[in-house]
Amino acid sequence: MTTPTEAHARPGRSDASGSTAPSGDGSVDGGRTSYPPSAAFVAGAVAHEDLHHAAEADRLQFWADQSRELLDWRTPFTRTLDFDDAPFAKWFDDGTLNVAENCLDRHVRNGLGDRVAIHFEGEPGDTRTITYAELTADVQRAANMLSDLGVVAGDRVVVYMPLIPEAVVAMLAVARLGAIHSVVFGGFSAESLRARIEDAGAKLVVTADGGWRKGAVAPLKPAVDEALEGEGTDSIEHVLVVRRGGNDVTWNERDLWWHDEMAKAAPEHEARAFPSEQPLFILYTSGTTGKPKGIVHTSGGYLTQAAFTHRNVFDMHPETDVYWCTADIGWITGHSYVVYGPLANGVTQVLYEGTPDVPEPGRWWDLVDKYGVTVLYTAPTAVRSAMKAGRQIPDARDLSSLRLLGSVGEPINPEAWHWFRQVIGHDRTPVVDTWWQTETGAIMVSALPGVTQLKPGAAQCPIPGILAEVVDEDGNRVEPGASGLLTIAEPWPSMARGIWHDPDRFIETYWSKFPGRYFAGDGARLDGEGDIWLLGRVDDVMNVSGHRLSTAEIESALVEHDGVAEAAVVGADDKTTGQAIVAFVILTAAAADGVDRAAVSEELRQFVGQRIGAIARPRQVVIVPELPKTRSGKIMRRLLRDAAEGRTVGDTTTLADGGIMAQITELM
Ligand code: PRX
Repeated sequence: MTTPTEAHARPGRSDASGSTAPSGDGSVDGGRTSYPPSAAFVAGAVAHEDLHHAAEADRLQFWADQSRELLDWRTPFTRTLDFDDAPFAKWFDDGTLNVAENCLDRHVRNGLGDRVAIHFEGEPGDTRTITYAELTADVQRAANMLSDLGVVAGDRVVVYMPLIPEAVVAMLAVARLGAIHSVVFGGFSAESLRARIEDAGAKLVVTADGGWRKGAVAPLKPAVDEALEGEGTDSIEHVLVVRRGGNDVTWNERDLWWHDEMAKAAPEHEARAFPSEQPLFILYTSGTTGKPKGIVHTSGGYLTQAAFTHRNVFDMHPETDVYWCTADIGWITGHSYVVYGPLANGVTQVLYEGTPDVPEPGRWWDLVDKYGVTVLYTAPTAVRSAMKAGRQIPDARDLSSLRLLGSVGEPINPEAWHWFRQVIGHDRTPVVDTWWQTETGAIMVSALPGVTQLKPGAAQCPIPGILAEVVDEDGNRVEPGASGLLTIAEPWPSMARGIWHDPDRFIETYWSKFPGRYFAGDGARLDGEGDIWLLGRVDDVMNVSGHRLSTAEIESALVEHDGVAEAAVVGADDKTTGQAIVAFVILTAAAADGVDRAAVSEELRQFVGQRIGAIARPRQVVIVPELPKTRSGKIMRRLLRDAAEGRTVGDTTTLADGGIMAQITELM
């Protein structure tokens, strides 16, 4: 295994002249192109190398130093890490701070009140410019509003919102009170929302009437109403509704308009200090079972690593940069790199409500041009969609402000990487591929611009202070050139502190395969130089457009349909979305009778969309007479994946019914 220093000590690193190497000029490493660091970043590279050295010399001291430098602590901590109760870590645990104050008030106190925090652009083209002083004032007032509604430290507040400034305000106001937010992506269904409200035992929901999506208002409030009619939601006392879409909404006794309550609330709010380990949020993510896991993150350690990675991986210069992360706040990327990282660093950012192609395909690039975006952080799926639409679209815009591009959510294929760098970055901008997860809280593996020779398609090296290692099935580190499983060998500040109300599942899922190591669930390969290449999930988790979905969750949704007897779901390679959902379904005898297959498939696709949310709608639902099962009844998903990807089906000798795969392939 290559240590960070070795990984960075490559000939290309010291080549400060190769600033604009076009693709053809990159050096060839094992048949792959790599790029020397850009000249623009080499000045910062020295500092970045120091970070690696400092982290290697004393990892805990390094994180303590970073935390003191990046955050304002009310009570300074004296203990950096307590891992006695492993795998439940405590970081900086005798210190106190207020997360919202770190993201807002302290910048105003430091004279940065007039700096723009958010350039908001609504999908219909409405805009708002919000300074740090204004955002601080909004969050103070919102904290008073929540407090007037009875929210106290430790309470759970569910946020189900479009990507508008009030969503950020709501999250920070909850944090300011020491309460816990649980953001549910606005694309999730009423049932998904209900299940999360129930699991979290939430007191309040913050939502909007609707938000703009693909040229129309997508209502949100009706889903909240429906969710609250369901079981297990009696804990909800109020629903705060932001007026955004202007769509008609049904009004219940518990409902309150955000603007009315804000008007009633006092403007000033003094932030209380909370312990470093005060829970900050619960974010539900898909695992290998039908039930999503409520990943818990806490305050001091999380904010330290979010701020550290945001500053260093993106080489942030808060005085001059205009940063844009295209993620929704419903995902961990939106938590760490729209809300907490950038605001802790006092950065100016763009927040865009809608989709890239409304009113026309160049919308994103118009926004880069309009706001002079310097650093853009997005997902490979978005890059591949832009590639499909054609380079004439970005070529017609001025993208010269961009100086750094980031990728997250799934492996970026070298073709998309090159296109991103050449067409969007005009061959000048490094592209950093960042690997991390909801559970890791912040970036764990990424090249550092200016230090690392970039390899298209590889996440490359652990960031300073992180021990990411690829191991074999026995937990032994693999040699360069070999593949294995990605693990983290030592605790890190932004690591999940558990699964809400389910400590056993936390231990079982992440810490039992390799005792003492965190198991990420991803396969990875080390190249000859010890750089990490991600190979995708090794469990039943799929990655569709950078969003995590579990096969089991979709199977459970399908069998809830009266006409479905059995279902098996696989993730199949897809050119645009990375993976796509393909479902194989056996109908009940009654449903199968004289059935119109196409109509039933479509109905089932829509059914899953309604049960979980549109992102979970399968690309294809194949109605089959039987599933490939072993004699003991285990479904062989490997064979279904072969069929879904149009490959020759693998070894079928262990199947109970040897002929079934031929029939299934016929039906594809
Ligand atoms: O499989 C990995 C993939 O996304 C999973 C984590 O998903 P989630 O918790 O939703 O967080 C996504 C945003 C951080 C991982 O287990 N993944 C994420 N980033 C990369 C990636 N796979 C390859 N390369 C990446 N850069």
